[in-house]
Parts: sequence; C-alpha cells; structure tokens
Amino acid sequence: MDAKITARQVYKRYPSVDGGEITALEDFSLDVADGEFVCIVGPSGCGKSTFLRILAGLDTASAGSVTITPGADPRKPLNNVVFQEYAIFPWKTVLDNVAFGLEMRGVGKAEREATAREWIERVGLTKFAGYYPHQISGGMKQRVSIARALANDPEVLLMDEPLGALDAQTRKVLQQEFMRIWEETRKTVVYITHSIDEAVLLGDRVILMTAHPGRTKAVFAVDIPRPRSVESTALPAFSDLTYRIWQELEGEVVRAMGEEGQIKIEE
Ligand SMILES: Nc1ncnc2c1ncn2[C@@H]1O[C@H](COP(=O)(O)OP(=O)(O)O)[C@@H](O)[C@H]1O
Ligand SMILES: [Mg+2]
Repeated sequence: MDAKITARQVYKRYPSVDGGEITALEDFSLDVADGEFVCIVGPSGCGKSTFLRILAGLDTASAGSVTITPGADPRKPLNNVVFQEYAIFPWKTVLDNVAFGLEMRGVGKAEREATAREWIERVGLTKFAGYYPHQISGGMKQRVSIARALANDPEVLLMDEPLGALDAQTRKVLQQEFMRIWEETRKTVVYITHSIDEAVLLGDRVILMTAHPGRTKAVFAVDIPRPRSVESTALPAFSDLTYRIWQELEGEVVRAMGEEGQIKIEE
C-alpha cells in the first residue's frame, strides 16, 4: 500500500525559558500507509502532541519533512484533528457543530445537514441533534468531535488522546464505538494515547516513543484479527503485546519522571 503520511527525520526545537533550546523531537520518522491505523504511545512530554501538530500543519518542524499525500478529490481536506479537550462550539447545536467543517468548505445547507445527520446517527446522538454542548455529557461531546471530523471526510484523521478526559467506563464504550466506525470507513488514522490497551485494541501498529527528546524506541505490529471487539482484549495475544509494550515503555516513563524531578533515579 502507498504511504499516505511520510515524516522524515523531523526535529522540533523550542526556545527554553533560560534562553537555550528544548529539543522536543529528534530524528523522528514515520510512514503511515493508506488506510492504516497507527497509534503512538510514549511518556508524558516526549513530543507526541508536537508531532501531531506538525502533521496537522498547526506548527512547523525545525528540520525534516512531513507530507500528507492528497487524494483524487481536491475538495477533501488533508486532515482533521480531534483533541482531548472538547473543541466544539458552545453556541452551536450538535447538528451545527457536526456540519461546521462542511459549512466552512462551502457545502450547501441541505447537503451538509444530511451528511451531519448521518454522522450524528452513526455516533448514536440522533435524539440530541438540537442540543447545545452544555446540555450533553463529556462522552457525548467527544462523539460530536469525532462525528464532525468524519463528516468532513479528511484524507487523514489525527487524534490526540481523544478519550483521555473521559471516565474509564465511558472511555471503553467510545473505544468500541470508534473502532466499529473505523472498521467501516478505514480512514488513515494517527492516534495518540497514553493507554497501551487502547493502542493495542485500536491500532494496526503501535509506535513507542522515547522520553524527551522524542525518538522512535520501538514499533509493534498488532496481529489481532479484525473486526475487533471487547472480546479481543481477552485473547492471549492481546495481553502478551500490552505486556511487551509496557516492558519497553516503563523505563522511558521512569526516565521522564526523573527529568521532571518527580522521582530520584539511583545511579
Ligand atoms: N509551545 C511550546 N513552547 C516551548 N516548549 C514546548 C511547547 N510545546 C511543547 N513544548 C515542550 O516540548 C516537549 C514535548 O511536548 P508535547 O509534544 O506536548 O509532549 P506530549 O504530547 O508527548 O506529552 C515538552 O518538553 C514540552 O514542554
Ligand atoms: Mg500531549
């Protein structure tokens, strides 16, 4: 399959408060195939969000290159991002929030409402189309964010801990729902999470990043058959892989906490 996303030797340096520089990303490369679901895990502060922002064009790399290959339809947006915090407009209804990207692209009212209603139904919010964000729960708000991104039909979907702010039960339900929707659409996805379980449940591949500065530490192929469901998490292959990833990640987490002065590492 062709690469949909190509990131080559990406570096990102930020000015630090003491007048020096912080290297957030160091020689980070990644290819994502068309229709592939790639998860990125790594300790807090390792540069995951930085990489996603560069992919989304919200920030620029200090060195290296990032390319998203456009598709046949030039009207399609290259990417849409779903963030952890509920990035939906409080003054717009669920319907208008989901239709927003289409409205921005000049899609006519009837067509954008029909598309938005279809996605609202797919995320189980049909009865809430006329509600405002303050009238619905956190889980429902994230369903709105996901529906909005998918209604916009981007070439690639970029997700930065989209379920990270939700309680554990809601999170599990949304994982299952999103997985079902993804298996129907097979959109190219880069999905950041700090949950190894979530990465293994959702992803075709899991990229493990080192502690700051972020580099690739290991890449794991997830050989768990699709369609996946909550039963997949009971497979020995699931626990074997989550354990292997944790073994590699643990040292990085400890290193990251040491750098932040949260724990003392014995030499
Ligand atoms: N705008 C910024 N200015 C300065 N430093 C930043 C900025 N954004 C992120 N950083 C630093 O870059 C590193 C990576 O941050 P981030 O990509 O948010 O990590 P992650 O998402 O993996 O937790 C951190 O050390 C962070 O403090
Ligand atoms: Mg982050």
